[in-house]
Amino acid sequence: MTESTPQEHAHASAGPSERVERLLAAMSVEEKVGQLTQLFYFGGPASVAGADSEIAQQPRMVEGALARGAVGSLLFVTDPAENNRLQQLAIDGSAHRIPVIFGFDVIHGFRTIFPVPIALAASWNPDLITQAQSVAAREARAVGIHWAFAPMVDIARDPRWGRIVEGAGEDPYLGAVVAAAQVRGFQGDHIGAPDHILAGPKHFAGYGAALGGRDYDEVDLSDQEFWNTYLPPFRAAVEAGAANIMSAYMDLNGVPATGNAWLLTDVLRDALGFDGFVVTDANAAKDLETHHFAADPADAAVRAITAGVDMEMAIFEPAFAHLVDAVAAGRVDTARLDEAVRRILTVKEQLGLFDDPFVDVDTAEQVLTDPAHRAVARAAAEGAAVLLRNDNGVLPLHAESVNTVAVIGPLADSARDTIGPWVFAYDGDETVTIADGIRARLQGIAEVTVAQGVPRPTRTFPSMFDMWGDGSPKDPSGFDADSALQHAVDTATQADFAIVVIGEQQDMIGESASRSDLSLPGDQLRLLEAVVATGTPVVVVLMSGRPLDIRWVAEHVPAILQAWYPGTRGGEAVARLLFGDTAPTGKLPFTWPRNVGQVPMHHAVTRSHAPNDQGRRYWDVASTPLYPFGHGLTYTHFEYGTPRVDHSPIPLDGAVTVTVDITNVGDRDGTETAQLYLHQRFGTSSRPLRQLVGFQRVQIAAGATETVTFTIGAEARRYWSAATRDWVTDASQFDVWVGGSADATAHTEFTVER
Ligand code: NOJ
Repeated sequence: MTESTPQEHAHASAGPSERVERLLAAMSVEEKVGQLTQLFYFGGPASVAGADSEIAQQPRMVEGALARGAVGSLLFVTDPAENNRLQQLAIDGSAHRIPVIFGFDVIHGFRTIFPVPIALAASWNPDLITQAQSVAAREARAVGIHWAFAPMVDIARDPRWGRIVEGAGEDPYLGAVVAAAQVRGFQGDHIGAPDHILAGPKHFAGYGAALGGRDYDEVDLSDQEFWNTYLPPFRAAVEAGAANIMSAYMDLNGVPATGNAWLLTDVLRDALGFDGFVVTDANAAKDLETHHFAADPADAAVRAITAGVDMEMAIFEPAFAHLVDAVAAGRVDTARLDEAVRRILTVKEQLGLFDDPFVDVDTAEQVLTDPAHRAVARAAAEGAAVLLRNDNGVLPLHAESVNTVAVIGPLADSARDTIGPWVFAYDGDETVTIADGIRARLQGIAEVTVAQGVPRPTRTFPSMFDMWGDGSPKDPSGFDADSALQHAVDTATQADFAIVVIGEQQDMIGESASRSDLSLPGDQLRLLEAVVATGTPVVVVLMSGRPLDIRWVAEHVPAILQAWYPGTRGGEAVARLLFGDTAPTGKLPFTWPRNVGQVPMHHAVTRSHAPNDQGRRYWDVASTPLYPFGHGLTYTHFEYGTPRVDHSPIPLDGAVTVTVDITNVGDRDGTETAQLYLHQRFGTSSRPLRQLVGFQRVQIAAGATETVTFTIGAEARRYWSAATRDWVTDASQFDVWVGGSADATAHTEFTVER
C-alpha cells in the first residue's frame, strides 16, 4: 500500500456547493438533525412478526418521521415503487424538499447473488471482484438504493467469529487489494457515476478481533496490530474513494468505536485523510449507554457526534433526536453539526438526488433479470472455489465414463444455503443448487441420484434472520433419520461416484453467528463416514464461510473442493469445475487450522524460542495448519524457478525487482496465482516470518514457462513499530519467497543499506 495525499482521493475535488451552503444557511437545527438520522424501514419482516409487534408498528413510526422532515436516510427498502412512495413523503415532509438517501446491505449481490465476500476474496482476482460488485451496484441502483453498507474490510483471524464470511480473511495486503476492488465496483470512477452506488467500508475499526470470536465483544488491539494489520484495508478503501465509513459496535481498547474521537477523527480524518461521511452501525450510538460509557441516550448522541460520527443508523427511536436540545444547551459545537450536515447534503448532491430523486420502476425488473449478470455470477463462483486436495488427480471427473452419480448431503440441494447469508432480495427459484448443476451437466449422459442423508443441522439458538422468515430450511417434523441415512448409503453404493456436499447451513455464519466449535455440524461426518465405507469413490464439496475441522475428511477423501456459498449460479459453476469444463483457481484467504484449539492462527507470525521443536507449542497437535494461507490446487502443476533480484544492496528508499520463471509441468493449460512473501531478518521490531507483499495471476499453457515480475518498494517494507511508536523503514537483510502459497520455497534475498 502506498501512502496517498488527500488530494488524490477520488472524491476530494468535490467541495461544498453553493446549493449546499444555501440550504445549510436556511435550515433549522431540527432539520439538520433530521439529515443526520437514518431509520430502518421494516416493511418486510412486519408481516412475519405479527401485527401487534413493535416491528409491525415501525413503518408507521417512520412515515410519521418522514412527514416531519426528521429523516435523512432510510435503509432496507428494496422495492422501487415503495422507494418512490417513501421518497415523496420525505420530500413533502422536508421544509427544503431535501430527498432521503437509501442505504442497504448489498453484500454479495442484490437479485443476482455472487459468492460470499470471503469467497470473492479467494479468487485473488480484483477485476472479477470489481465486476461482481459493479453488477450488484447496478441492480441495487435500479430499485432506488444509493449506498451499500459494504465492503466489510475487517481483518478476521479467528474463524469462530461468524462475520469472517463477510470479509477478505486474515491478510492486510490481500484485504487492501480486495477492499479497493470492491469500492471501485460499487462506486465506479466517481461518486454519482451512473448505475453505481456509494461504498461504505465497515466496521471502523478492529471489529474482527472480537475476544474469543464472540460477535460484538470487546477488542483489545496493540497499536502495532492496529496500524499494520487492521488498518490497511480501510486505508486502501479510503484511497479508492469510498464515500462513507461505518463505525463499529465494540469497545476498542476500552473506548467504544462509535464514541471514539481518536479513532474517528485522529485516525480516520487526520491519518487516513477520509473526507466522506461516517454512519454508525445500527443502534451503535444508543449502545454507548449499553457500553457503560454514556450516561443516557442524549449523552450518547453528543459523544458520538463529537467523536466524529455524522449520521446515526437507528432501529427505533434515534438517540440523535436529543441533539436538538443538546445544541440549544451548547453541548454540541454548531460547527461540528454543520460539518456533518454538509457532508450528507454534499453526497446527496453528488448523487444527483436533488434533481432526480426517483427511480424508474419500469426498467428495474429488466435490470434485475439481465442474463449478463448471471454470467458474472457463474464466473465468480468458478473463480472463488478452492481445490484443497486432489490426490492422484481424482478430479476432474470424466462425465463420459460414468453411468450414475450420487449427490449426497443436507446442503446438496438447498437453494437457500447455496446463496449464503446476508441476502434479502434474491430469487430462490432461479438459484442453481449443486444437485441442479450436476443434473444439468449430466443431462443425457448419466443418471444423477440425490439423497439428503441426515437431518439438516440446526443452531442451538435461533438466528436473528428468522425475523425475516429467512433462516435455512428445516426438516419436517417426523423426519426419519435412520431411513434417510440408509437411503444415502444405498444411493452411494449404486453410483460410480458420490459427491458429498457438507458444511454449515448459511444461517450458521454471518452476523450474530459465531461458534465455539469448528466441527461439521450435526451428523454430517457420520454420513460421510458411511458413504466412504461403501467403497464408492467420494469427492467432498464443502459449503462454508469459515474453515471447519475437516481432519477426518482430509485423511479419508482424496478430493475436497471448497465451494463456499457460491451464489445464484453456484451449482452450475461447481458442476463445471468437478467435470473439468473449467479448473479451480482459488486460493485460501486464510490459514486453515486443524482444530478449533489452534485458533486464532495466521501465517504472518513472528518467531521465538525453539521454533522447530515438535511439541513445544502444543503437545497434542502439530502447530502447523491443515492448509496454509494462499493454498489452492488446480488441474495442472507449476514449478517455480529460482527468483532473481535486479540489484542489491539498495538504499532505504529504493526498490528491487523480483523476477521468477513459472513452468506449467502438467498437460493442461492453467492459471496460477503467484504470491510474493517478504521477511526482514532484523530491525527496529521483530518482523513476521512471512508477509504477503504482492501477487499476480498468470495463465500458463501446458508445458510453457512464463516470467513474472514483482517490485518491492520502500512502502512494502515500512511498518509501525512499538519500539519507536512510529513508522519505520529499516536497513536490513530481506528474504523473498515466491510460490503458490505461504509455504512457498523458491527463495532469494536482498540487502537494504542506510
Ligand atoms: C448491523 C451490522 O453490523 C452492519 O454490518 C449492517 O450493515 C447493519 N446492521 C445494517 O443492516
